[in-house]
Amino acid sequence: MKKETELGMNRTGMAMAPKEGKRQKENEWKAPPIALGDSGEIVRLRAAYDAESGPIGTVSPPATIKGVAKTALQMGKGHNATALIDKIGERLAFERAGTRLYELLIGKFRAGESETGDADLSALIRFHDEEREHFLLLWKCLEQLGADPTVQTPSADHTGVKGMGLLQTMSDPRSTFYQCLDAILIAELADNEAWKLLSEVADGMGLSDMAASFRDAQAQEQIHLDTIRTWWAALVKQEAGIEEEVHA
Ligand SMILES: [Fe+2]
Ligand SMILES: [Fe+2]
Repeated sequence: MKKETELGMNRTGMAMAPKEGKRQKENEWKAPPIALGDSGEIVRLRAAYDAESGPIGTVSPPATIKGVAKTALQMGKGHNATALIDKIGERLAFERAGTRLYELLIGKFRAGESETGDADLSALIRFHDEEREHFLLLWKCLEQLGADPTVQTPSADHTGVKGMGLLQTMSDPRSTFYQCLDAILIAELADNEAWKLLSEVADGMGLSDMAASFRDAQAQEQIHLDTIRTWWAALVKQEAGIEEEVHA
């Protein structure tokens, strides 16, 4: 069984080679920075790139006549419908990625190569299915707004890049079930916050039915978060040999 706390021949620390470590410290003056200037240079360079580049992407115009009418209606009220479309596009991308993350987590659980603690396969499958249902809900919402659900909105692109580390560590054959829980916890924390905000934005635009469906999704996400957090904490405490507190 794999364990993230297994003792082994980890050679990344200097204490593994005390002689070489000492020599490296003695010779560090021989390797000064090769670039001229100070750390302010990189800040200036990044600012120059920022000034030259455009945004990550754009929100495409409504795909249907109905969409144009809805956008105009929102604009008449002083609202920016494209901001909502961008954020729904982001959740759509996130829920699709969330479904993939649960597929990976279920795979880790089934492989049984590391400790799974109190985790329960039927709950994992339910969470996976709910992520997929949320994806389908968002697809419908974009269609209702006359937007094209296949479009990668700027926030969707941004969220895809953010999630790359999670996908990478969870698809790593060496990662343990606990490490995958740790990654999915980040996703669930972000997911909960984003659903809350999305329902507030939809409410603010007078789209009360849509806002209500977002709140229902958020209630399910809260259960995902609470459950993952409990399994995650219990596994670390079990590994650390700490007794769970018994509340009377
Ligand atoms: Fe989700
Ligand atoms: Fe979730």
